[in-house]
Amino acid sequence: MNDSLSNLLSENRTFAPSAEFAAQANAKADLYEIAERDRLAFWEEQASNLHWHEKWNQVLDWQPPFAKWFAGGKLNASYNALDRHVLEGRGDRVAFLFEGEPGDTREITYAQMLTEVKKTANALLSLGVKDGDRVAIYMPMIPEAAVAMLACARIGATHSVVFGGFSADSLLARIQDADATLVITADGGFRKGGAFGLKSIVDDALKGETNVQHVLVVKRTGQDVTMGAKDIWWHELVDKQSAEHEAQPFDSEHPLFILYTSGTTAKPKGIAHTTGGYLTQAAYTHRIVFDLKPETDIYWCTADVGWITGHSYVVYGPLINGATQVMYEGTPDTPHKGRIFEMIEKYGVTILYTAPTLIRTWMKWGDEFPNKYNLKSLRLLGSVGEPINPEAWMWYREVVGGNNCPIVDTWWQTETGAIMISPLPGVTATKPGSAMRTLPGISAKVVDDEAKEVGNGGGGYLVLDKPWPSMLRGIWREPDRYKETYWSRFDGLYFAGDGAKLDDDGALWLLGRVDDVMNVSGHRISTTEVESALVSHHAIAEAAVVGANDELTGQAIVAFVILRGGVEPDQELEKSLKAHVTKEIGAIARPRQIMVVAELPKTRSGKIMRRLLRDVAENRAVGDATTLADPNVMKLISEGLQSEKKED
Ligand code: WTA
Repeated sequence: MNDSLSNLLSENRTFAPSAEFAAQANAKADLYEIAERDRLAFWEEQASNLHWHEKWNQVLDWQPPFAKWFAGGKLNASYNALDRHVLEGRGDRVAFLFEGEPGDTREITYAQMLTEVKKTANALLSLGVKDGDRVAIYMPMIPEAAVAMLACARIGATHSVVFGGFSADSLLARIQDADATLVITADGGFRKGGAFGLKSIVDDALKGETNVQHVLVVKRTGQDVTMGAKDIWWHELVDKQSAEHEAQPFDSEHPLFILYTSGTTAKPKGIAHTTGGYLTQAAYTHRIVFDLKPETDIYWCTADVGWITGHSYVVYGPLINGATQVMYEGTPDTPHKGRIFEMIEKYGVTILYTAPTLIRTWMKWGDEFPNKYNLKSLRLLGSVGEPINPEAWMWYREVVGGNNCPIVDTWWQTETGAIMISPLPGVTATKPGSAMRTLPGISAKVVDDEAKEVGNGGGGYLVLDKPWPSMLRGIWREPDRYKETYWSRFDGLYFAGDGAKLDDDGALWLLGRVDDVMNVSGHRISTTEVESALVSHHAIAEAAVVGANDELTGQAIVAFVILRGGVEPDQELEKSLKAHVTKEIGAIARPRQIMVVAELPKTRSGKIMRRLLRDVAENRAVGDATTLADPNVMKLISEGLQSEKKED
């Protein structure tokens, strides 16, 4: 047994797109061959869908691990997202259907977005912001967040969006690392039925040493804030600006944004993205993966702009493609657990893109919430952020999609900038839980410890072996860390940190972060497969497993599970779950211990923090019989989470 990662779970269900969907799809099967024949020509073709002030003179300049795409070309991101639509007669199309958590709504057309962005660009210029400067954006999920990003892009300032849930210390660290000179924020935002503060946190952060000259503040909640010498209200400055501003062309490799990823241990990494290649791949993937028909679709990606998904699939991809999209400020359970479904019905959403953490939460809450609303407008569903367990996939398909929507499980990262692995919704016969294969133009491999391809039926490390247009250009001002983090494990290959396997048909399955892999009696077992086996039990909505030290087997599997709505824990359940895992994937994966919990510790973007669970599992007595629904477990988890969030 020397597999880099065991292949345990097998899945035989497949779902081909309907003939009607296939016939109207943006991407047909020949796209793979076209891309294969001449990869660089294929990407040039995709880049030509953007407006370039000047065409590039070289498609790819690859000095591993540093890439330049479309070098010599000049373009403007905001021009591509907005001006173009207005100039070509689409100014009256709605860009955003915004809904605040309290229920306030705004409809904003492309022409209105453009006017707002031009005024904001003029406001930034009036504050002395120049191209190449960094601007930190710390906002709730409101249209001004997108306006702020596009206004930066318009004048060539590099934005660094910091998710509004981060603490003052985290914000300060990011402002300092990027050396931002302007912060754009709001008084606060609405969340879980109340107003939370943002400006007050900016004030705290700026007690630290920074080069911030001004803070521009959107009035959203109307809560009390202190306005100091550097602080300016958005409505006072932006509203009086001229609505004329001509977008300047910038180099294809001009830095468009920095986005920090927390990483599991060390200081956050400033993932740096540039313009031409990033926009090319964001727009291309948005068109082919979501099958967007801009005249008729109502698209909704539930991600916050504080994450890469919000950058690529709320702001840049959809706006370049002229989409009409829903933007929602609040949480999915406010004022009730059917809020998202209610909005799907209200706006007639056709394309929904969300994360497995929300899908599993919906499963936990129960089917009555989606069942209460008419979801028939939906025609495509997407998933991103974590492996989606086959049962969660099936639930999404049946209960949300009414068995009528292709599901695209999309694998990518902050670092990759855009989707890399996903079904094509009109082409691929999907398997529940599999991201299936690389998109046309993209190349990935699954390799073992020696960088040899594992072949079908084998598990190992997911690597990207060819540069792609939206790849990160580095870690902000840390070139050595960039090489060390992504390019040192395997010679000449980008290692993404994820485990993966190819099944017997060559479909690709993501198996979670390799740091989380469990080693049981010498078998390397992925967390994903054991979790998926647990979630396929009728009582379980969500599961997280970790390897805890074990005298006998090196590590033993400890599982934390959340029950589906209405299920009560009892001692029989633990036995039945262990037997179920054994039946699904084998005795080697049988958990030593199973604990029922009410919540799992998650990062702010919703990924399960297994490292923290490992601490909990290892600090408890082995074989403790009273593990089910032990309140102390919850206490340990929440204490760990508190200290974790403080350090962030
Ligand atoms: C995980 C989010 C399985 C993976 C766009 C990756 C996934 C990390 C999937 C990046 C998926 C994302 N299936 N795992 N469809 N999508 N991941 O930077 O571990 O927030 O490396 O980017 O999320 O997370 P990030």
